[in-house]
Amino acid sequence: MIMLHGGHGWLLSQFISPLSNKRKDKWGGSLENRARFPLLVLEKVRKEVGENFPIEFRISGDERVEGGMGLDETIEYCKIIEDKVDLIHVTAGIYHSHVETKAFSSMFDPHGCNIDLAAAIKKNVKVPVAAVGGFNDPELIDRVIGEGKCDFVAVGRQQFADPDFVMKTMLGKADEIAPCLRCSCFNPLPADPDARNVALPWHCTVNPLSQRELRWRQAPQPKASRNVLVVGGGVGGLYAAITAAERGHRVTLAEKKPRLGGHLWFTDTDTHKGDLKRFRDSLIVRAERAGVKIDFETVADEEYIRAKAPYALICAAGSEPAVPPIKGVENADYALTVYSEPHRIGKKIVLIGGGLIGCETGLYLAEKGHEVTVLEMLDDIAKEANDSHRRALIPRMKKQLEWKCNVKVTEITAGGVEYADTDGNIGKIAADNVLYSTGLKSNSKTVERFRPLAPLFFTVGDCVSPRFVKQATYEGFCAGMDIL
Ligand SMILES: Cc1cc2nc3c(=O)[nH]c(=O)nc-3n(C[C@H](O)[C@H](O)[C@H](O)COP(=O)(O)OP(=O)(O)OC[C@H]3O[C@@H](n4cnc5c(N)ncnc54)[C@H](O)[C@@H]3O)c2cc1C
Ligand SMILES: Cc1cc2nc3c(=O)[nH]c(=O)nc-3n(C[C@H](O)[C@H](O)[C@H](O)COP(=O)(O)O)c2cc1C
Ligand code: SF4
Repeated sequence: MIMLHGGHGWLLSQFISPLSNKRKDKWGGSLENRARFPLLVLEKVRKEVGENFPIEFRISGDERVEGGMGLDETIEYCKIIEDKVDLIHVTAGIYHSHVETKAFSSMFDPHGCNIDLAAAIKKNVKVPVAAVGGFNDPELIDRVIGEGKCDFVAVGRQQFADPDFVMKTMLGKADEIAPCLRCSCFNPLPADPDARNVALPWHCTVNPLSQRELRWRQAPQPKASRNVLVVGGGVGGLYAAITAAERGHRVTLAEKKPRLGGHLWFTDTDTHKGDLKRFRDSLIVRAERAGVKIDFETVADEEYIRAKAPYALICAAGSEPAVPPIKGVENADYALTVYSEPHRIGKKIVLIGGGLIGCETGLYLAEKGHEVTVLEMLDDIAKEANDSHRRALIPRMKKQLEWKCNVKVTEITAGGVEYADTDGNIGKIAADNVLYSTGLKSNSKTVERFRPLAPLFFTVGDCVSPRFVKQATYEGFCAGMDIL
């Protein structure tokens, strides 16, 4: 099969779209004229490949920009091309505004976000129709095909996140699928150059093998089944434990809490992090099936570790919230209180710290009807986010909440905060709750003293320094692979 890309603002769609085609000759103007070039290309390709070779034609069902191709005209266009193609593949948008127009949807968009466009086109053509955009769940795919909205679903990033997506589904192991988080792999670096030191070379957040498939295929096999102890059951510890256990080692994981997942407990409640929750849960299932022995409610200390006498010790003890040195901080709570103790959260909220955690927590609260103001000391918010995530996050924040940059909170009281801007102007904001999200500090110091307790010692994830799931996953995987 061959796919011709007639969407996303590339060459063929530049002719069909009134947004870009301003020609006054026979190649521009009416739909018939604008369709002339794509049709010519299609006819030529058909001539080359012959009648029995399938051609899939990709279109944007709606460019979702002012002055662009809308759905009604796209349906008419599909009727013009349908006898020349075997499959119409419905995406949306244009690459210049890839996130905003859902060419590559973000974690804030519904899964299968272009399905209504595909369904509308399917009603009007005889050839089969495929839909693409944010599909990462076999059940949803099954449902939209079953409902007759499309004949096929095309899967992009999910296949990258977990190349065994289809196989796991067929084998009844869908709960082991690592779901694509739509965290913007096409744009991995933080928008802020100063924050780029936290970014590793590019690979998928949930698939540490990605972009390194050949390298890992050459990796040496373990010489023996080793006794491995993992400290911490967040993403980093879980990935390390799974990798080591799947390679034949005997793995124990100590977790001080009664649950696994580390920081990701908040995804049980958060509205936009459902895929992160699925990822966490897939790791828990994989750890169980790989035979990892889990010691819950166990604080690993020297005595515990000595008793276990591990050959390899992997410390994935994560990070803790940093309490800001602000006068009256005892009147404030850590931002994640909104998930753990929602009954304590009033209507009017001031959130100190406009990094990603502060911004996303603020958005979560604002969408629930709270009045939120975020105060940030730096000149911009969410600086550590990559450009694509910012494109999705900031416009949503603009609709829902307020923020001030270049302001330093000087005092927190029972009724609100006092702050100073860079010119020394003082301001006050009243609040029912003051929350802070002013960074995390790694637990590296705690675990460093464990270093002499095993022949092999690793630190992974936030325990090295507080970063993202991507680093925790990758470093956990590497530690598991390095035990030979
Ligand atoms: C609110 C919030 C939202 C976030 N959102 C995102 C996001 O959308 N995308 C993203 O990529 N990243 C996000 N992050 C960052 C991400 O969650 C972390 O980078 C990642 O979870 C770190 O995983 P970890 O395993 O290294 O550590 P942790 O998740 O901190 O896990 C460490 C575990 O070790 C346990 N532990 C510690 N000491 C001991 C001990 N001595 N004995 C036994 N157990 C111990 C702890 O109880 C904990 O369960 C977010 C973080 C927060 C706080
Ligand atoms: C890193 C990356 C690169 C892409 N490159 C192309 C490309 O070269 N050609 C193309 O037609 N689509 C490309 N796409 C778009 C995908 O084909 C797909 O339409 C999009 O990711 C939405 O589907 P998904 O949500 O299943 O990933 C790319 C997407 C990503 C994330
Ligand atoms: S990096 Fe993120 S967006 Fe890209 S495939 Fe992986 S999980 Fe999906």
